[in-house]
Amino acid sequence: MREKDTSTSRSDLTYEGSEDIPVNPTKNPTFGEVVQRRFNRREVLRGGLAVTAIGAIAGPVAFGGRQAKANGPGFDFTEIEHGVDETHHVAPGYSADILIRWGDPIFPDAPAFDPRNQSAAAQLKQFGYNNDFIGFLPLPTGSDSSERGLLCVNHEYTNEELMFPGIERQDRDLQFADMTKEMVEVEMAAHGGSVIEVSKAGGKWEVVLESKYNRRITPYDTATKISGPAAGHPRMQTVQFPSGTDTIGTLNNCAGGMTPWGTYLMAEENFHGYFWGDIEGNPEKAAYERYGVPGQWYAWGKYVDRFNLEKDPKAANHWGWVVEVDPLDPNAPPVKRTALGRFKHEGAEPIVNGDGRVVLYSGDDQRFDYLYKFVTEGRYDPSNREANRDLLDKGTLYVARFDDDGSVTWLPLVQGKGPLTAENGFESQADVVIEARRAADLLGATPMDRPEDVQPNLKSGKVYVMLTNNSKRKADQVNAANPRAENLFGHIIELTAPENDHASERFAWDFLVKCGDPTVAEIGATWNPKTSKHGWFASPDNCAFDSRGRLWISTDQGSAWSKSGTADGLFGIETDGDRRGYSKMFFRVPVGAELCGPTFTPDDKTLFLAVQHPASDGTKDFPGFERRSTFDDAATRWPDFKDDMPPRPSVVVVTKEDGGPIAS
Ligand code: FEO
Ligand code: CA
Ligand code: CA
Repeated sequence: MREKDTSTSRSDLTYEGSEDIPVNPTKNPTFGEVVQRRFNRREVLRGGLAVTAIGAIAGPVAFGGRQAKANGPGFDFTEIEHGVDETHHVAPGYSADILIRWGDPIFPDAPAFDPRNQSAAAQLKQFGYNNDFIGFLPLPTGSDSSERGLLCVNHEYTNEELMFPGIERQDRDLQFADMTKEMVEVEMAAHGGSVIEVSKAGGKWEVVLESKYNRRITPYDTATKISGPAAGHPRMQTVQFPSGTDTIGTLNNCAGGMTPWGTYLMAEENFHGYFWGDIEGNPEKAAYERYGVPGQWYAWGKYVDRFNLEKDPKAANHWGWVVEVDPLDPNAPPVKRTALGRFKHEGAEPIVNGDGRVVLYSGDDQRFDYLYKFVTEGRYDPSNREANRDLLDKGTLYVARFDDDGSVTWLPLVQGKGPLTAENGFESQADVVIEARRAADLLGATPMDRPEDVQPNLKSGKVYVMLTNNSKRKADQVNAANPRAENLFGHIIELTAPENDHASERFAWDFLVKCGDPTVAEIGATWNPKTSKHGWFASPDNCAFDSRGRLWISTDQGSAWSKSGTADGLFGIETDGDRRGYSKMFFRVPVGAELCGPTFTPDDKTLFLAVQHPASDGTKDFPGFERRSTFDDAATRWPDFKDDMPPRPSVVVVTKEDGGPIAS
């Protein structure tokens, strides 16, 4: 995500990431103590929740059934080392090739990429900026092909200082003054998402330019529908779209999800940053302030009325939703599914419940914001794709309260229930979803340390919540599920649905790990002691399971990576048995980048990764790179390493040199 706050108050901490330091578990709770605490909590819950009874419900998703004490399949690869340099690194025995970069063509008639003369017209036919979520949909449809498919890729945001010559970000007023209408249009055309067909021939993946499926979705020109409880409501009726059921495109699409019926969910995250204008007197003022609208990060409002709240006062209500795209129909408009609530969605990851209802998990990525789930009213029909088309329009949105006894209570955001009444400004379900954060405040949800990706393991039914960090949590603000003040390094929580019933209103929770360097006692990290000095990580952000149910985590430390001593990367982490909490580093990004989008083909032989904003974050603080990168003076020119080419966010494809499944 874009850096919003680069200050930290922990400059007194020392980090020794490059020295040969053995892990000293005596300074911290040992792994055995962590296990003991978990066991105790389960004892407390006995009778209230059958937390270990897994696999009792047969459903469309096959649960493998986790044996509570058994080790999983493990990760068979040689870990790489922490570090920082200008390029990417992968475990020995693997190749990591560039599949597609910002500006590469996705249509046969796309113009060649010319970064000094970029235009919106060219950008609309090229791969967008800052690739984030990646979904893989096998082709032909209904197959489990691992050699041909559609990649659904989000383009979260733009770094104008790296995209355009002469633009710097030090002074926002100056930056806005320098941003021309043409540059803003390029930025808009570089946001959103891409659907691209890819195929593997002779062991190498390539983009199929002639594919009928290839498509760009942008906030520049993509006609988009609004559905669900907020559709057409007066608060959604804007100057440009008085119907309240139409809008243009999607933006700040961070993570996402792929539904069981083969659609692509694009989650709108930091939408507030795109708006500007004075909101004094705006009827949405109080509601906007809960979301930080207007954030004024971009110059878009200078040229485009729907991003200027003085010209279109309700326009910001069209953003902050989960957007569903049918990648098999390039002409189908994306649909904003408002039933899932409006907040800064990191992603939206589904699981089919035993009874056929679909449950989607989504984090609201802001310090002290919440974890949500949505349970559809209807049931998934695996034999009739069309029948699932509007499944996400009806259901119940819940927010999580984490209690000290190890339970999670899911609180329904339903108009008329509890405090969600007209008296409190919730006259209809439209008000509840538009102001989901305020509704969750009133319900007493637990303020979390920035919930990012939330991923159900389709093998075990367990759900993993990435909590990336929260530098602002004070000692008197800690709670059981967010126990560290000034949590610079984040943690991971595991959720267990009783009897694997994801629709249940009560779950159990537990820590998987508390992140950070385990050799620095005051950090309070907890890892399996097998974890080496290169295996621990900070700021878990995106995650994915491979087909064997193994958890892979990518990190986004923002500028804080200079304190951990390593660039971001991808880690395999064990979740079961006596290796639970054992992590190993598999892939590392170039300086200033963040790693997003891990996704595997069904055979686990290919791993797609999104390297976002190379040369951007934190480079000014790190020895050897001390500068804020710009187009002309970048900390790295990855992946082209050509003097006339800026750094370019790119999708990387990882395969094993012997052609086998990854980490097996
Ligand atoms: Fe876009 Fe929460 O990272
Ligand atoms: Ca993210
Ligand atoms: Ca994910």
